[in-house]
Amino acid sequence: MPSSGILKNSMNEECGPSLKKRHSIVSGRSDFWSSSDEDEGVQPHEKAIAAGQPNPPYCVRNIEQHDFGRREIEIAEQEMPGIMALRARAKDDKPLKDAKIVGCTHINAQTAVLIETLAALGATVRWAACNIYSTQNEVAAALAEAGYAIFAWRGESEEAFWWCIDQCCTPTASWQPNMILDDGGDATHLMLKKHPAAFKQIKGIVEESVTGVHRLYQLSKAGKLSVPAMNVNDSVTKTKFDNLYSCRESIIDALKRSTDLMFGGKQAAVCGYGEVGKGCCQALKALGCVVYVTEIDPICALQAAMDGFRVVKLNEVIRQVDIVITATGNKGVVTRDHMERMKNGCVVCNMGHSNTEVDVHALRTPDLMWERVRSQVDHIIWGNGKRIVLLAEGRLANLCCSSLPSFVVSVTAATQALALIELYNAPAHRYKADVYLLPKKMDEYVASLHLPTFDAHLTELTDEQAKYLGLNKVGPFKPNYYRY
Ligand SMILES: NC(=O)c1ccc[n+]([C@@H]2O[C@H](COP(=O)([O-])OP(=O)(O)OC[C@H]3O[C@@H](n4cnc5c(N)ncnc54)[C@H](O)[C@@H]3O)[C@@H](O)[C@H]2O)c1
Repeated sequence: MPSSGILKNSMNEECGPSLKKRHSIVSGRSDFWSSSDEDEGVQPHEKAIAAGQPNPPYCVRNIEQHDFGRREIEIAEQEMPGIMALRARAKDDKPLKDAKIVGCTHINAQTAVLIETLAALGATVRWAACNIYSTQNEVAAALAEAGYAIFAWRGESEEAFWWCIDQCCTPTASWQPNMILDDGGDATHLMLKKHPAAFKQIKGIVEESVTGVHRLYQLSKAGKLSVPAMNVNDSVTKTKFDNLYSCRESIIDALKRSTDLMFGGKQAAVCGYGEVGKGCCQALKALGCVVYVTEIDPICALQAAMDGFRVVKLNEVIRQVDIVITATGNKGVVTRDHMERMKNGCVVCNMGHSNTEVDVHALRTPDLMWERVRSQVDHIIWGNGKRIVLLAEGRLANLCCSSLPSFVVSVTAATQALALIELYNAPAHRYKADVYLLPKKMDEYVASLHLPTFDAHLTELTDEQAKYLGLNKVGPFKPNYYRY
């Protein structure tokens, strides 16, 4: 359970009734802002509205799942050392004191750790999901039970999705948001469009996704961004962990869980040798696969060759490979023509840009039969009996077929928390109404928060060495253009 300090902090009147009162409501089963899993088809907010509570203090699927959700959060805490270290170090200073944060992210055990950290650092939060399918209902229940204003459940309707976000963005007598933590830009968008006056009171936006960052740059270009925003998507620590290290592990997990494949001796083609492709190739090679790489960029192709991979055109190996993985960020990389020539049983999956890399559309023709053999696994069957195995209909295989390691989310969460702290505490002149990257020193700090887990000991620069390299002894240690 969260510490009493955190509870106290989150139990202010903006977040609804006191925990005591809420308990009594819940035990009396009049918790109309939560419904049971058996309530299929009924959206929880409809119950709240029907009961004359259009603005409930929280709205989740089933509050009674809170114990299960709390255990999930505690498990996640064990594998999120960086964000937990930040919580421990900053909880006395309360760098987010009086911050009122609108959050719109996936709601799972790992984000719950972030939410409770922000509260421990002094913030009050109201939180909605950025995706209608990804909410862990039991975690949302645990957060609501602990006193957080959570509006999210798995399987939200489109209308419910926006209702939930609006519950967080709408200013009231006791809730005037002053920060936004967004993943995809929907909270930012809604607030700007529906509550423009409240949007002007925002001190800063922290955005995590490629799409959201793109929208922010567009707003900035159009002169419509009136507050500073931090692009944490492109923070070096996040990029490395999300793209390289996380994919290195999750590609294997996704393939194993969905196909029970043995990797030793199999032939795999990986399209694209960027961060994601490099991670996939390393993992497959380590398990004894024969790995081919396709690339358009001579630098990445040379890197692949130096790392011991054969660089080929997909056409050259398409008849012999057992696995094809796309990781290019591009479209139409694996075409119907390629799939026509694949051998029986070839597994096709995408780790790159969501459902554009494999031309899945071209497989939806009357001459091919689709057979759903497992969740996220389709067999596409030709007239002669040949079948290929398509994962997640060409969407990101690791996100659909496996789970994201908590450690990776710890890095992202610590980066988000620091970005919020920086924007919230920065003197007025430091950031204009524009999109910024997190200062490198903070990226370095995020990494340093995770080092004790590995009992890693940093070497300190001597005065002479620092002078020789022209560096401050405490960083930043690299120029902004350094690529790692
Ligand atoms: N699955 C995940 O969890 C996950 C995580 C992070 C990023 N991504 C996504 O993965 C994609 C790749 O990310 P990245 O960081 O590796 O990008 P990157 O730009 O570092 O690498 C992509 C590589 O693909 C190459 N490429 C482009 N078109 C190609 C083609 N037609 N054939 C062969 N190679 C081609 C490029 O030259 C580049 O080297 C992006 O869409 C990114 O959003 C997925």
